[in-house]
Amino acid sequence: MNAVSAPKTPIGALDVAAVRAEFPILATRMRGRPLVYLDSAASAQKPRAVIDALVRFYERDYANIHRGVYELSQRASDLHEEARRKVARFVGAADPCEIVFVRNATEAINLVAYAFLEPRLEPGDEILLTEMEHHANIVPWQLVAGRRGAKIVPAPVTDAGELDLAAFSERIGPRTKMLAVTWVSNVLGTINPVHEIAALARRRGVPCLIDAAQAAPHLAVDVRALGADFLVFSAHKVYGPSGVGVLWGRAELLDAMPPWQGGGDMIERVSFAGTTFNRIPFRFEAGTPDIAGIHATGVALDWLRGLGPEAVRAHEEELLALALEALSRVPGLRILGRPRARAAVVSFTVDGLHAHDIGTLLDLEGIAVRTGHHCAMPLHERLGVAASARASFAVYNTAAEVEALARALARIVARYR
Ligand code: ALA
Repeated sequence: MNAVSAPKTPIGALDVAAVRAEFPILATRMRGRPLVYLDSAASAQKPRAVIDALVRFYERDYANIHRGVYELSQRASDLHEEARRKVARFVGAADPCEIVFVRNATEAINLVAYAFLEPRLEPGDEILLTEMEHHANIVPWQLVAGRRGAKIVPAPVTDAGELDLAAFSERIGPRTKMLAVTWVSNVLGTINPVHEIAALARRRGVPCLIDAAQAAPHLAVDVRALGADFLVFSAHKVYGPSGVGVLWGRAELLDAMPPWQGGGDMIERVSFAGTTFNRIPFRFEAGTPDIAGIHATGVALDWLRGLGPEAVRAHEEELLALALEALSRVPGLRILGRPRARAAVVSFTVDGLHAHDIGTLLDLEGIAVRTGHHCAMPLHERLGVAASARASFAVYNTAAEVEALARALARIVARYR
């Protein structure tokens, strides 16, 4: 078994230097300067514990799972199911059978769209989303709606970048068959009132999916307290490997769902006359998964939990406050949205400069930010901008890096605008 110890941190505070020392990539240089990585909302960097877990798994524990009677396969299978228990603990699931491993949050939403919703959709039915969804929480619903003659209803976002909850509630009608809402906007960092939304969904008897891809790295997740029906996130944004996603679903809903993809491991018995299917969650896990990656996902979640959610939140709030203040001093820079509850994500535009140019000029200084529409074109359209630059912060970022970003932007503005 790959024992991993969480970093030692003083209670309630993050020892950022110690955290940084665990990320080998942060010691690399970009363009002859120390790397300033401010794109963790796209993908987080990986701590040594996760990298070592992957290597050790391949060196000592690797075999296919749920298929071999030999010891190595049983060990790999045990570690796989241990990872499922760790994920269940991370999200507060009632039972590990509610955790389905997929490739990413996108695939998890597709699974719910096709296996859960599509069979229930009639022509004229509605799927309620918000204007601030990532494309992954729009397009799968559009595709199933198109197949059944149903339609997408977007709920509005205010000028401040918050969900208009009253308008959202008004849009829930007799034809609404699904609510799907992001917990945290990947563009604005807005933290949506998902507990209220889930309660609203329950009162109206409409199933509800929460996209926690941007929430899981920043906020404590407890699906039982949340009260939604489905929740999805990706391992790569919570310091785990890429290629692993998680769907949590209520056991009774998953149990009633037909399979989505067919193949190995998801069956009970196959004959040419017909096939019967495995129990949940295996019914939704066709084919050999990313076995080592799933193991390392469990390690990543333990690592993150070991830092302490309060310490993570306090550190990121400090970075966010500093970023909002420092960036607002840059001439011509406009921060998108001013939500009251915000995770450590800040998107901005600069008068007279295209977002991609900002990204390229920052890169010359070793600073990595995301630029473009961030897979949220409808939100950019709502905000009246074609593209923006986005700085997103993680447990390993420092106040000095925030200041470096603001100084670099001030230089860029002075020189090129
Ligand atoms: N969804 C990721 C982002 O916002 C890729 O950058």
